[in-house]
Amino acid sequence: MIPAILVTCSLPAAVLAKLQAVGTVDVHTGEAALSPSDLRARVADKQALVCLLTDAIDRHVLDAAPGLKVVANVAVGFNNIDLAHARSRGVVVTNTPDVLTEAVADFTWALLLAITRRVSEGERLVRSGRWQGWTLDLMLGSGLAGKQLGIVGFGRIGQAVARRAPAFGMRVVHSSRQAPRLSPEHVSFDHLLTTSDVVSLHVPLAPDTVHVIDGRALARMKRTAYLVNTSRGPVVDEAALADALAGRQLAGAALDVYEREPQIHPDLLHLDNVLLAPHLGSATTETRTAMAALAVDNVLAVLAGKPALTPV
Ligand code: DGY
Repeated sequence: MIPAILVTCSLPAAVLAKLQAVGTVDVHTGEAALSPSDLRARVADKQALVCLLTDAIDRHVLDAAPGLKVVANVAVGFNNIDLAHARSRGVVVTNTPDVLTEAVADFTWALLLAITRRVSEGERLVRSGRWQGWTLDLMLGSGLAGKQLGIVGFGRIGQAVARRAPAFGMRVVHSSRQAPRLSPEHVSFDHLLTTSDVVSLHVPLAPDTVHVIDGRALARMKRTAYLVNTSRGPVVDEAALADALAGRQLAGAALDVYEREPQIHPDLLHLDNVLLAPHLGSATTETRTAMAALAVDNVLAVLAGKPALTPV
């Protein structure tokens, strides 16, 4: 039987061609994600689904596709998929670890540097036409050398962020459920919050990581500290963060992810001490191509009766 495959986004031509070589491929090419009802209708007769983190693969979608064998998420995160229900139906779920690690770590540092040195705030000043020229005290930021970077979640991306820290003279501490507690850099979450100059978040979204950074956690941070989030939006309580930033309870925050993307908490939009990026962590041509290729290779493996390369 020739497999039928649904792809919910445009893929690089060479990557898509690999799917077209083995099956009938239905590609959704619109800008907006498929609506839940369109997704259910189009997946109904498919054996494989290639999807994005913006597609909610809930039990209704899974139940709508009785022949579905594999869901290949083009993302390392998989909080958009009802994993337990997929398992109960025997559907293999795959993600794209490793291939995006360096890109996300680079972007984390881009945000870290930009918020501590007020890059986007400075650009807004220039574009507004209000810049009067160089002065000794214009837009002073915060140096990094000798400061402490606290990494919450020390998996692949957290470790890649840490590897870059010596280049900027920063020392690293981390807190993680999995990291070896014998490591001298491993500290309690509370110690990390109270002593770090920059706190960077790298935990997956799970029930126990929702609002890890809430009002209480923000109150534990130094008033001179910065928060960087390239993980998942709901890890941070945005309303509490907006309050803390407005009250100068911490120096600044740089966010790439949001609680209800693409909506941004309205109170954040008016603050100068927050940098807001549109979920660009893995957005390089090389990385997005590699993510798409890995998702497709996972589909090809499962359809060929082999183990997935990167099952969740
Ligand atoms: C992921 O892969 O989970 C990212 O958030 C998208 O790059």
